[in-house]
Parts: sequence; C-alpha cells; structure tokens
Amino acid sequence: MIEVVVTALRDEAQGVLGIELRAADGALLPPFEPGAHVDVHLPGGLTRQYSLCNDASETARYCIGVGLSALSRGGSAYVHEKLREGDRLMIGEPRALFRLSPDAARHRFIAGGIGITPILAMIRWCARHALPWELHYCVRSRLNAAYLHELSLLGGHVHLYADDEEAVHLPRDVGPMMCDLDPTEHVYCCGPGGLMDAVAAQGERLGLPPQRQHFERFTAPVSAVQTSSDSAFTVVLARQGVRCNVEADESILGSLERHGICPPFSCREGLCRSCEVVLLAGEADHRDYVLSDDEQRLNKSLIICVSRANSRELIIDL
Ligand code: FES
Repeated sequence: MIEVVVTALRDEAQGVLGIELRAADGALLPPFEPGAHVDVHLPGGLTRQYSLCNDASETARYCIGVGLSALSRGGSAYVHEKLREGDRLMIGEPRALFRLSPDAARHRFIAGGIGITPILAMIRWCARHALPWELHYCVRSRLNAAYLHELSLLGGHVHLYADDEEAVHLPRDVGPMMCDLDPTEHVYCCGPGGLMDAVAAQGERLGLPPQRQHFERFTAPVSAVQTSSDSAFTVVLARQGVRCNVEADESILGSLERHGICPPFSCREGLCRSCEVVLLAGEADHRDYVLSDDEQRLNKSLIICVSRANSRELIIDL
C-alpha cells in the first residue's frame, strides 16, 4: 500500500473530477503501464478501482478521473463531494489488466463516458511512440466529454458521438466505428456494459480473433454473479487442510471469510483479479470478467469472489 496526498483537483467535464496524487513521503511512485488501474481505499472501508490516465512515463504523480455515478454506492459520491486537496489516501500498486498489444500496428479505441480514462493513458503512449491510433468517443453530451481538448492534441483521429446531438437508440450501432479495421489493428473498448457488449458482438460478426479485442469493465452486469438456481458445494483449501461449505447464496470468498480465512480481494465483482487462486481439482463455473476464454477453458485458475463450481467440490491452492 502507498500513502498518497491529493495535490490537485480539477473539473475535467460535467460530472468528471480529475485528481492528481503524489506520494506522501515525496518519493517517486511505482511505474505503470498504460491502461493500468489502482485500488483507492476510501473512508468507510470502500475500495474502488480507478484507471491511471496520465502519461505512463511519469512517476512523480498519478492522475485519475472519477465520474459521478448516478448509482454511486458511496465511492464516486465521496470523491466528488468530500475529497479535498491535501487529503491523504491509501492506494494499491498499479495493476495492468487492460494493455496495449505489442502485436498491433494500429490501435482503435472505443470509449464510453468515463471509460476514456485508461484509454487516455494508452493514447498518450501511442502519441509518445508515434503509433497510429483512432478514437471513437461516446458521451451523453459534449459537456460530459472529459479530456477532449487534450485528446485533440495527441495526433490521432477523434470521433465524438454525443447522444444529445442525434437521435440514438442505446446501445449505439458500433458497426460504423469498426467497419474499416486494418488487419493489423487491435480494438480496445472501455465503457458501459451495453457499449462493450455491442463492440464484442460486432467483433464476432466481423470474425475478429479474441486476441485483437481488449475490454476493460468498470462494473459487472447486474444479473451476472449469483442466481437463484445456484446450489451449495464444498471448497477444500489444500495447503491448510480445511474444508468449507459454500452456501447457495454466498461466494467462495464469503464462505472463506465466514470461516475466518481472509484471502486478498478488492472489487468483489470479478473485475480486478486480486482474489485469483490456483485451482487444483474440480470443475469451475467461471463467472468473472478477467480470465480470458482460454484461461477459463484451462480450468487452472479461479476468481473466488464470483465463480462457483460445476462439480460437488473444488480444491484450491490455499
Ligand atoms: S476481488 Fe476483484 S476479481 Fe475478485
């Protein structure tokens, strides 16, 4: 964990607050990859993941952008209403789950709303390394389009789509955004679930291989994690020699905590990978958004905050 100080706050657009963080002890911060995020620990035991949006070559500071969510469960509301310059916060080390591919000769970005933040860091990287890029940026209104001026200075093509400037049925038709993909081009998408689902569906229609599509989810779909048809199963902790019953209405992580075992976690929504464990035996019912299709098929790894079992028992390396 790193203690940081809020050294600047800036309105980046309507409902988007830009925050600059520097190490409390004045030291340099750990380096990060474009697209990486940090866990930010807020008062009240809240932990939120925010993407770093400054230039990844900077290590004197981290910049994040926080959109005020209408459905805020406390995180964005606290940041917008209570956070002040000079406040101290604890953050985790940067983690990169959404990365620029070194195999891509061109990069096509599709961002929705606050999903622009990891993409901004990626575009800064492209600009610094003279890599061709193109951005399709979907917002409710031009007033909500954070970082638009900075983006216009970074040497690529920015296409802005504002819902209030045209009659739009959501999710948007993303066909035109992906109609002229170069065979060497990769697609990166971050934004609301509807937009990402539409991009994934269009990628499938175009026969785009999964390696050329990259997604970063901020929130899990509402219905995704637990269902009323779930049943109980047993999880065995091989190293500790402990067996835990996982009830139908709890997660593996919840069951372990109930048994006094506290593995690391952060989002509890299958988005951040911090609770991943090695799966030694049993068949997983993977419900996360971070393991690739291949990783899920291999069945060697398990995201214990959301995934369940298709077998009566799972043995994990804990
Ligand atoms: S805690 Fe984030 S994926 Fe499990």
